[in-house]
Amino acid sequence: EKAEIGLIGLGVMGANLALNIAEKGNRIAVFNRTTEKTDEFFAEAGALADRIIPCHTMEEFIDAIRPPRPIIIMIKAGQPVDDQIQHLRPYLTNGDIVIDAGNANFHDTRRRFKELDGTGLTFIGMGVSGGEEGARHGPSIMVGGTPESYARVEKVLTSISAKFNNEDCCAWLGADGAGHFVKTIHNGIEYADMQMIGEIYGLLRDGAGKSASEIGNIFGGWNKGRLNSYLIEISEKVLAARDPHGDGPMVDMILDQAGQKGTGKWSVIEAQQLSVPATAIEAAVAARVLSSMKSQRVAAEKIFGSAPGKIDASGAGLNDLELALFAAKIGAYAQGFAVMSEASKEFGWSLPMPVIAKIWRAGCIIRSQFLDEITTAFTAMPDVENLIMTPAFSAMVKEALPSLRRVVAAAVTAGLPVPALSSALSYFDSYRQARGTANLIQAQRDFFGAHGFDRLDGKDFHHGPWGSGLNE
Ligand code: 6PG
Repeated sequence: EKAEIGLIGLGVMGANLALNIAEKGNRIAVFNRTTEKTDEFFAEAGALADRIIPCHTMEEFIDAIRPPRPIIIMIKAGQPVDDQIQHLRPYLTNGDIVIDAGNANFHDTRRRFKELDGTGLTFIGMGVSGGEEGARHGPSIMVGGTPESYARVEKVLTSISAKFNNEDCCAWLGADGAGHFVKTIHNGIEYADMQMIGEIYGLLRDGAGKSASEIGNIFGGWNKGRLNSYLIEISEKVLAARDPHGDGPMVDMILDQAGQKGTGKWSVIEAQQLSVPATAIEAAVAARVLSSMKSQRVAAEKIFGSAPGKIDASGAGLNDLELALFAAKIGAYAQGFAVMSEASKEFGWSLPMPVIAKIWRAGCIIRSQFLDEITTAFTAMPDVENLIMTPAFSAMVKEALPSLRRVVAAAVTAGLPVPALSSALSYFDSYRQARGTANLIQAQRDFFGAHGFDRLDGKDFHHGPWGSGLNE
C-alpha cells in the first residue's frame, strides 16, 4: 500500500511531524539525506513503524507515495530549501505537490510558487507552529497554495492539527505565500507577547524585589484569568524551575541575551513596507537586539548607574500589572492583524481574519483563550479596520487602559525599561486622537521643501506664508 504523503528532513521537527502523521492513521514515506538518521528514526518509531516507509534513495521514496504526491520538506529555511527542490524536481511528475513546512520568508515562498507554476507541479508554503511538542501532538497549521493542492492534503493535515472545541487548527488561508506570511506575523506577535511578559517580570523583579518563584506564582494566578495562555503558563513553569547545577532558580542563572532567527524581524520589515504601524512588535524585536549587546549594557550601567526606583506590586498595584499586560497584548494583536489585513490587499490573498484567529486558538505558541474572543469579534465584523474598534475589544481597552498608563508611568519614573508596553500605550493614545500633531509636520515639510498641505476648510491654498516663493 502506497503512502498518503512523503516527508524529507528528519530533524526534530520533521521527525515529530512524521510520527504525528503516522499516529493519526496515515501512511507516510520518509527520507533523510543521511540514511543513518532514517534508520534510527524508523527503529525508534515503535508501534507506528507499520505506517512508516523508510526510504534510502529518492527513487524508492517517490515510488512509495500515492500520486499526485504531496511531499513535505522540513529542513533549515533559506538556500537549503531551494537546493532540496532542485534535487527533487527531476523525480516529480504532473500534479505532485512540494510542501515547505519550515519558517520560510514568504517572499521566497512566492518565488518558489511562481517557479513551479506552469510546470505541472505545485508548491505549498505551510506555516507550522507549536514547537517540538506541537509538531508531535498537534500544531497549528497555516496553509498557502492553490485550493486544489490543499484539497489533496487537507485530510492528512487536519488529522494531525491541534483542535479547539473539536475544530481543526488548520486552514487554507490563500495563494502562494499566504500561509508563511501569517506564520511570520504569528511570530511577530509571539515576540511582542514574550517581551511584554518579560517587561512585567522585570518590574516585579527589579522594581518590587520579587523572587523568581514569587513571580512564577503571580503568573500562575494570572493564568487562571483573562491572561490565560500558553506563554503565561510556561513562564510560570520556567520561573518555578531550580538550577540542577546550582542551588538557585534556573532563570537567575541564564544569560540575558535573546536569540532570534528572523521571523520577528521580517514581520516588522513587512509592516513598514505596508505602512502599518506595528510599534509593539518593533519594540520587541529591538529589545532582543539590545539584549544581545551585553557588553555595551554592562559598560553603560557603570557610567549611568541603574538605581531603579520602586514598583508597587501590592493588591491594587498587582491588579494594575495584570491589566496593563492585558491592554498591551490587545495592542500587539491589533497591530499584527492590521498588518495582515493590509498584506491581504497588497498580495491579493483575501486573508480570512476570523479563520486565522480560530486556528491560533490551540496548537501554536501564542495560543490562548483570548484568541477565542478575537475569533468572536472578527466573526461578527470580518472587515473591521482595527481589532480595537470592535465593541468587545474597545470595551476591554477602555477598562484596561488606565492600568497600562499607571504601570508605564511608574516604570518610567522608576527608570525600568518597558519598550513594548509603552509602545502599545502610545499606539492607543495616538490612534484615539482625532486631532493629531502632523499639521506641524506638514507645515515643516512645506517650509523646507514646498511639499504642500491640505487645509481643514478645504480651501484651495496649499502653501504657507513662510517666505519668498512659497506663497501661493
Ligand atoms: C512556533 C515558533 C517557532 C520558533 C521560531 C521563533 O510558532 O512554533 O515560533 O517557529 O520558535 O523559529 O524562533 P526565534 O525566537 O529563534 O526567532
